[in-house]
Amino acid sequence: MRIDIITAVPDLIKSPLNTSILHRAQEKGKVEINIHNLRDYAFNKHKQIDDKPFGGGPGMILKPEPFFECLDKLTGARKYDSIIVTTPKGKVFNQKIANRLSLLKNIIIIAGHYKEIDDRVREHFATDEISIGNYVLTGGELPALIIVDAVVRLIPGVLNDSEAALNDSFQDGERIDSPYYTRPSEYRGMKVPEVLLSGNDKEIKKWKEEQSKNLTKKWRDYNK
Ligand code: ADE
Repeated sequence: MRIDIITAVPDLIKSPLNTSILHRAQEKGKVEINIHNLRDYAFNKHKQIDDKPFGGGPGMILKPEPFFECLDKLTGARKYDSIIVTTPKGKVFNQKIANRLSLLKNIIIIAGHYKEIDDRVREHFATDEISIGNYVLTGGELPALIIVDAVVRLIPGVLNDSEAALNDSFQDGERIDSPYYTRPSEYRGMKVPEVLLSGNDKEIKKWKEEQSKNLTKKWRDYNK
């Protein structure tokens, strides 16, 4: 899979992409992630990428030209299956969307910053508009990272067996996974549930299913 991220603040996303599982996925050749600095596509000598909004109002708007230049170059070089704009106005991201995106070959994520992106960019290029939740951040960079993280870990071969995504919460519709414990079996007087130490696979499976059912109900109540 190839992911291109267009951003005005590449520093905000570089480090997480080069750490831990996302870094390993790139090293293994499972995903190629390219970051494009919007400023490299700025027209004038001051490298201006933002300007005041027409019609007035507070905040700065990211200018269209650098986006169009960058996107023309990318889309001219290969076909993209999805061009995503991260915006609080979009469809709220979930595991189903992550699964769909993980099956694609080439995607672009356009991360806004400041108040907004000139809307012509969205209108001309976006195939998906994704929000990570009903709150407003300073920019689309953290949402872009969240999308990349959730998608890349689903690509076959990215996680090893011990990290497998199969039992994840939400991987099977709205189902929350059971709690987990590791050694020591007792810590500060707190004991791991007896059944997990019993070696009885059938009872363990039953316990996990019960826990999962209770946690799913609790989660539904939280999110009513
Ligand atoms: N940009 C600012 N806030 C956002 C959000 N909640 N989701 C996606 N992009 C954003």
